Parts: sequence; C-alpha cells; structure tokens
Amino acid sequence: MKIKVGVLGATGLVGQRFVQLLADHPMFSLEVLAASERSAGKTYKEACNWYLSEGMPESVKDMTVIKTDPKAKEFEDVDIVFSALPSDLAKELEPKFAEDKLVFSNASAYRMEEDVPLIIPEVNEDHFALIDIQRDNRKWDGAIITNPNCSTICLCITLKPIMDNFGLESVFVSTMQAVSGAGYNGVPSMGILDNIIPYIKKEEEKMETESLKILGKFEDNKVKFADFKVSASCHRVPVIDGHLEAIFVKTSEGAEPEEIKEVMEKFDPLKDLDLPTYAKPIVIKEEEDRPQPRLDRNTGKGMSIVVGRIRKDKIFDVKYLALEHNTIRGAAGASVLNAELYVKKYL
Ligand code: A2P
Repeated sequence: MKIKVGVLGATGLVGQRFVQLLADHPMFSLEVLAASERSAGKTYKEACNWYLSEGMPESVKDMTVIKTDPKAKEFEDVDIVFSALPSDLAKELEPKFAEDKLVFSNASAYRMEEDVPLIIPEVNEDHFALIDIQRDNRKWDGAIITNPNCSTICLCITLKPIMDNFGLESVFVSTMQAVSGAGYNGVPSMGILDNIIPYIKKEEEKMETESLKILGKFEDNKVKFADFKVSASCHRVPVIDGHLEAIFVKTSEGAEPEEIKEVMEKFDPLKDLDLPTYAKPIVIKEEEDRPQPRLDRNTGKGMSIVVGRIRKDKIFDVKYLALEHNTIRGAAGASVLNAELYVKKYL
C-alpha cells in the first residue's frame, strides 16, 4: 500500500517540483497540497503559476489547495509531509507537523540543529540515527529530516568519494547559481541578462557549515563535524535551472586527476536498492566544454551531478566543474530520495 503524503508550499518553485515528482509515485500517494491563505480553496491549476517546462500532471490539476494548518482534517491520514516552505514559516510550522508525521524538509530552519539529520542518501545515511535522539529530546512521534542547501548537495556528493579514498584537507568552491534557486522572487530576474549578482544571502555560510556536518561521522550518538577547511564564494547568474560549481580540492594523501576520476566513476552506493528517484550520483563528461546547464542538467532525470574538466591544480591537487539541477537534485528530488531511502530501509 502506498504511503499518504502531502506537500507544504506546494505552489512555490520547489513545491512544484515536489508535486511533479510525487504525482504518480510508486511508493507515495499525493493526498494534500497546502499553501498560503491566498491559494486556499482554489484548484491547484488556479492557484499555481506553473513554471516547469514539463506540463502540470493531470492528477493534481483539480485537487483543492488547502491552507497550511497542521490541524486540518485533510492531514489526519497523512504520514509524510514534504516541506518547501520559506524558512521562517518552516521554523514555526514544521515542529507542529512533526508531532505525529515525518517531515522531509527542504527548508534551512532546522538543518544545523544537533538532533536533526541533514541527509544526502549516498553520503551519510547513517545520520538517520539522529531521529531517535530527536524524538527523545523533543517528545514527538514524528521527526524533521532535512536535506542540505542546493549548492552544498552538489559539492558534497563530489567530495564524498574523494574524502573516503584520499582524505580532505581544504576545499574552495565558486558557484554560478541559477535564478530558480531564488523562489518566486527570483523569477523576475530571469529577464536580466548581461549581469551577475555577486551575492546570495547566507549561501556561503550554508555551504561552509552544512558540508562539515554532512561529511562528519556519527559517533557517540552525535555528529562529529568533519575538520577539513572549506571556503565558498556564491554568485547568481542568468540561467533558469542548473547550478555550476568550480571546485578546488587539496586532499590529505595527494591525488592525481585520473585517480579522482576513477573514484567518482565508481561511486554508486545505493544502486541495488531500486529507489524510484535514484540515478547514478556522478556522471563524468569528457568534452572540455561540459558540463553546461542547458545540455546537462536533466542527466539522470535531474538527479545526477555532472562532473567535467577534472584537472591538476598548482595550488590545490585537483580542480573540476560540477553541475546540478538545483530544484531537482538540489531540492525536491533530494528530499523525495531521502524519504524513499528511509521508508525502504528504516521504516
Ligand atoms: P502561495 O502560493 O499561496 O503564496 P517560493 O519559495 O517559490 O516563493 O514559494 C513559497 C511557497 O510557500 C508557496 O507555495 C507559498 O504559497 C507558500 N507560502 C507563502 N506564505 C505562506 C504562509 N503564510 N502560509 C503557508 N504557505 C505559505
């Protein structure tokens, strides 16, 4: 039997991706679409300014959007909610849903709390163990399970095989981030060509702190943060979907580009689990003008990180480019994959 799920913030940019991924999902049945009071009572097709190039799934068009109220009767039979709420609202509302439901959240509000798992399935599934600690601490029966910031996911997936094989000493990353990452407010800036915004609020801090939690070890009932140095510089560029990152890595043991390529190629930890949203986490492109957002963002239905130009660096050991579909692998897809893995392996 399918597990009943709902989406919070269902009309927003990440919310739409959740709806697209969950509309005809083999494990989950999408029962509730929730948004603000403005949208409540309207059908999803009336409430939603659908921005995805793939059309709106038929099955959701006539569903009635409800107000995001944890006490609403529509939520009674729902076991999992996916949250695409803005962070301030997530802070207030997610704990109310976590009383009796699993909340898979894309919001940043709880990511860095000690007892909240911040998961990338291929990287740190052992951190799901924090759920028991969270339930003890907070006296609730559900849980909040978060996925990282979009740019952090791309970075950490590529760092994981390097860390496991050669150790990490220092990492520098410079991002070129798509406007869809900025939510509805980002959409108007799609009209601004011939420009780059050299600042994204809180993004560099998120990349620098979240990475160390995700790549940290779960020991003695807590996450011991990783201790390599990481420095990020984040920038918004006039691309619709697809974050590109230039990543520079100094390993502890020293590594050649060929060796990095080999460990990235081999990295495929969950391939035998048959998770519906799973795709090979890293796909390598040999052509020197790849990866590019428009050509490569839909690799693995938007779930694969596309890596290219792995080459030697004079200051670090190696440098490479990594591309991620930011609203799929970097947001809704990340959260859905967390839920698929948790349900399949731990529930
Ligand atoms: P709505 O469309 O009704 O305003 P984005 O991140 O793309 O800006 O999307 C934000 C999402 O959060 C939308 O689905 C939006 O719904 C929803 N939202 C905004 N304010 C509230 C609120 N006060 N209560 C519940 N949901 C909200």
